[in-house]
Amino acid sequence: MTRSTTRRTGPAGILDRCRELVRPALVESVGGLHPWHAETAAFSLGWAGAGGEPLPGSQGKGVRQALAVLGAEAVGGDGSRAVPGAVAVELVHTFSLIHDDIMDGDEIRRRRPTVWKAYGTGPAVLAGDALFALAVSTLAEVPGPAGAAAVRRLSLALRDLVHGQAQDLLFESRPWTGPDAVRPDEYRAMAQHKTGSLLGCAAAVGAVLAGAPASTVEALDRAGRHLGVAFQAVDDLLGIWGDPRITGKPVYSDLRRLKKTYPVLAALAADHPAARRLTALLTAPGPLDEAAARRAAGLIEAAGGRRATTDEAHGHLAAARDCLDRVGIAEGAREDLRTLIPYLVDRSG
Ligand code: IPE
Ligand code: MG
Ligand code: MG
Repeated sequence: MTRSTTRRTGPAGILDRCRELVRPALVESVGGLHPWHAETAAFSLGWAGAGGEPLPGSQGKGVRQALAVLGAEAVGGDGSRAVPGAVAVELVHTFSLIHDDIMDGDEIRRRRPTVWKAYGTGPAVLAGDALFALAVSTLAEVPGPAGAAAVRRLSLALRDLVHGQAQDLLFESRPWTGPDAVRPDEYRAMAQHKTGSLLGCAAAVGAVLAGAPASTVEALDRAGRHLGVAFQAVDDLLGIWGDPRITGKPVYSDLRRLKKTYPVLAALAADHPAARRLTALLTAPGPLDEAAARRAAGLIEAAGGRRATTDEAHGHLAAARDCLDRVGIAEGAREDLRTLIPYLVDRSG
């Protein structure tokens, strides 16, 4: 049980409690950036509009900072021990989204223009770089062996994250069918890298900063990586069947850009007439228009891609729980993790 704040229940309560614990350090950290980067970061974090005006209520969920706090509490430490790690993973997450939106050509995130749309590509690249550097330097200021171990974990996660982003981009030019088609296991590896590495690092870094034994740190890292694959599979589902008012992103953008998302890969792998019709639709020349994307969504569902993706997500959730059940975790943190884990996958936006 943390002594710094009152324990709250329910996913929103847990996320709020952790956000409140981390926020002062995150604000201070971002405040140390060049004012131009600080403004861009505040926009990206949902704290301010594109003109710098304060904007309460549109920030992200703060899943990664919460995992860091719970990682420290999991080993009986006070949540405050995790704060530099929580700040670092939120900064890395923010940097990765800024660069990701440029790579993906996405113009809207969380119902607002993406950073490159609001500020231009050059400033967005630079703001992302600044946040990357700030994340590493924030953690490097933690003294002693725990600080050094935390920096090591973060740098490995960063390496994996960009590795996964590279895999994801390279998948775009792979064919839909034939021997060079992207296999589901390749997708899993990509998702574990691009999304799981940071979620794993988030949970592990909090435990590292609280002085946890290696076995617990590794279990938290593995749990986070499974969560990442589940999270990414759900992200893919929401990109097709999510309500844009809730997801904050336009519908079908992955499909229209012919992204190799799990629902499509699973549908194409099925021996079903709808899978053959889907192949014909996806391999027709040119990008999909709105009507073709809607037709593709129907075929993906008919071929079982939607169900297979939900099953995939639930399988990784169960694996994440399993990792946590194998190590001793303080009771309050275990309950909070049990509450948060399904919420990440059942979320509708
Ligand atoms: C983003 O993956 C992964 C990272 C930022 C590292 P996606 O491109 O699939 O995520 P969204 O849908 O834009 O959030
Ligand atoms: Mg993206
Ligand atoms: Mg992407």
